[in-house]
Amino acid sequence: MHIEKLILQQFRNYKNQLLTLHPHLNVLTGDNAQGKTNVLEAVYYLAVGKSHRTNHDMDLIQQGQTMAQLQVVISREEREQELVLQLRGHTKTARINGIVQSKMTDFIGRLQVVLFAPEDLSLVKGGPSVRRRFIDIELGQSQPAYLYHLGQYARTLQQRNALLKQFAHGTRDEEYLSVFDQPLAEHGAQVWLRRSRFLLRMSELVQHTYATLSSSREHLTLDYDCSLPGVDLLHNSTSVTALSEAFQNALRQKHELDCRQGHTSLGPHRDDLLFFLDGQNVQSYASQGQQRTIVLALRLAEIDLLREEAGEYPVLLLDDVLSELDNQRQQNLVLAMSEKVQIILTTANFIQLPKTMTQQARLFQVCSGIISGEG
Ligand SMILES: Nc1ncnc2c1ncn2[C@@H]1O[C@H](COP(=O)(O)OP(=O)(O)OP(=O)(O)O)[C@@H](O)[C@H]1O
Ligand SMILES: [Mg+2]
Repeated sequence: MHIEKLILQQFRNYKNQLLTLHPHLNVLTGDNAQGKTNVLEAVYYLAVGKSHRTNHDMDLIQQGQTMAQLQVVISREEREQELVLQLRGHTKTARINGIVQSKMTDFIGRLQVVLFAPEDLSLVKGGPSVRRRFIDIELGQSQPAYLYHLGQYARTLQQRNALLKQFAHGTRDEEYLSVFDQPLAEHGAQVWLRRSRFLLRMSELVQHTYATLSSSREHLTLDYDCSLPGVDLLHNSTSVTALSEAFQNALRQKHELDCRQGHTSLGPHRDDLLFFLDGQNVQSYASQGQQRTIVLALRLAEIDLLREEAGEYPVLLLDDVLSELDNQRQQNLVLAMSEKVQIILTTANFIQLPKTMTQQARLFQVCSGIISGEG
């Protein structure tokens, strides 16, 4: 799929900007703080329903304004679709071809993107919640049902935790607590099973992309650290029913502990994704360059995975990542990818495109929230 047109209104430092994109390569150049990343953020928001930089939608609305609007025309399976997101205060309205969508889950995933940004290094260096968020976003783009179960799980978890906090300060009612165990276990089991299928395939693809990038010098493997005792999701197959029952039993056994601690001590919200290079955990072992390569391998694997699931390649967003690669590698990456996917990349430095590609690319200059160029 590719983006034909993007219109930003009162979004970040853009008052009203139309961008007509090239189906292959689009390069946004400009000095620091001019609005390059803001464009990628807008595209990402239209795809995923949230920003990759902030959890506060208010940050996205132009200062002094009360609403922002993002509009995109995409071509998918050779058909055009118009997606519009309007942010007003804390409410957002989503439209597909002019029709208001009552659920964001129906909107997310129409446009599919893979973003590679400098802060991605936190996928390896950061805490477990960064990696869970990665899984949730990737799975959510291709599986609305995953988002549904995850949402129901999160809501039940919140209610259960609120109750546990009350218990910590007053009398306990374990029977009432049990009311939440069943829905938590059912949605949790769905989340686990979908995560395991996704990670099994992801694991194969990542091993392959990592081998390509590192000239097979090291071997990368993934594992899923599941908080449910005795469960190894990537190596033993299981059913939703079995998982749900095991989860419910484990929850019951933890009633006492959960009441004391005031929160739910196990479930998909406590798990982690682990990376190993030649069997060693990368957090304590991998060099800076190896960590970068892991993240790049993950992002490239995502492209293939989304293609397998959706039948089309997603749009690739590269935020200022080329500067870390030497000239040859920059050109290799861009050449290899722009043949199959549409790329929007930002750079503060001018990049030298191969001659054969200048016909296949559009260059834009970004200056104080105004974009000029061939578009
Ligand atoms: N809500 C907002 N209203 C108006 N301007 C905003 C808003 N949010 C951010 N900005 C402006 O957007 C600019 C940052 O844009 P962006 O992050 O896209 O820069 P960039 O071109 O990617 O820079 P760099 O090369 O440093 O990464 C800031 O200068 C900031 O003032
Ligand atoms: Mg930037």
